[in-house]
Amino acid sequence: MANAFGKIILAGEHAVVYGYPAIAQTINKEVSVRASQSFGKKATFHFLQPALSSGGEIFDQVLARLTVLLGDRVQKLSFDIESNVPGGCGLGSSAALSVALIRSVLDFYEETRTSGEVAAMAMDLEKIFHGNPSGVDHTTIAHEGLIWFQKGKLEPVLSAKPLKFEILMGSPHRGTLKAVQSVRDFYEAEPMRVRSIFEEIEALTYAMRKAIKIGDLKQVGLLMNQNHALLKSLGVSTPELDALCEQARQKGALGAKLTGAGGGGCVIALV
Ligand code: PMV
Repeated sequence: MANAFGKIILAGEHAVVYGYPAIAQTINKEVSVRASQSFGKKATFHFLQPALSSGGEIFDQVLARLTVLLGDRVQKLSFDIESNVPGGCGLGSSAALSVALIRSVLDFYEETRTSGEVAAMAMDLEKIFHGNPSGVDHTTIAHEGLIWFQKGKLEPVLSAKPLKFEILMGSPHRGTLKAVQSVRDFYEAEPMRVRSIFEEIEALTYAMRKAIKIGDLKQVGLLMNQNHALLKSLGVSTPELDALCEQARQKGALGAKLTGAGGGGCVIALV
């Protein structure tokens, strides 16, 4: 059995697509995949939650890509997939599935690869789900922990104090691809304005890394609030996500923001 955790983004989503840094962390929700010998002619996927299986043709592409990555032997396998990472919510469900599928093949054939090699393969699968991802999701998920990510490179972030987040679920989003495209359209229409929003996000991401390193949780929370406001000005928040952030702050959270692509999905609150 192979597993991969979901993830949250603490700072820098969307800007990360344009080469700015992001901070992300794995969470205790996971996708589990068991690969076993398939007795049919072709590899099969069995989804223990029907919601996961939506988009059957996508899985034909995933299988074809897995075969390119790991060889024809993939076609001899059957995959049982189970997940408690909610889909379409910015928690990295597709990246976790990508990493868990790769790990399940390696596990079945008793092979090992470095986290970097797994992440590189997962990038190929993530492209099927998300077009042209920055790589922050599957890199964080393949390496695990609290990660600083920029332009394909990662660095673990050491935290002086434990960071505890609550995840508040909103309605599912309309897809990472759509949210990324809406930011792209905004960037093309108003490059100066969007670049200055990205630069503010970049500055707060650096400040957040520093605050995490020295254990200044109050500052981390304030920077999360700022990041949410900037994501709102990029047009990727929704009234529901704004209300969830406000609710969390009123209940005493140190800070709250949407996480991931936005346009729906969920909010993380530092508690
Ligand atoms: O797929 P999500 O909702 O976890 O969002 C990923 C983060 C983005 O910055 C919006 C996209 C990317 O490729 O980095």
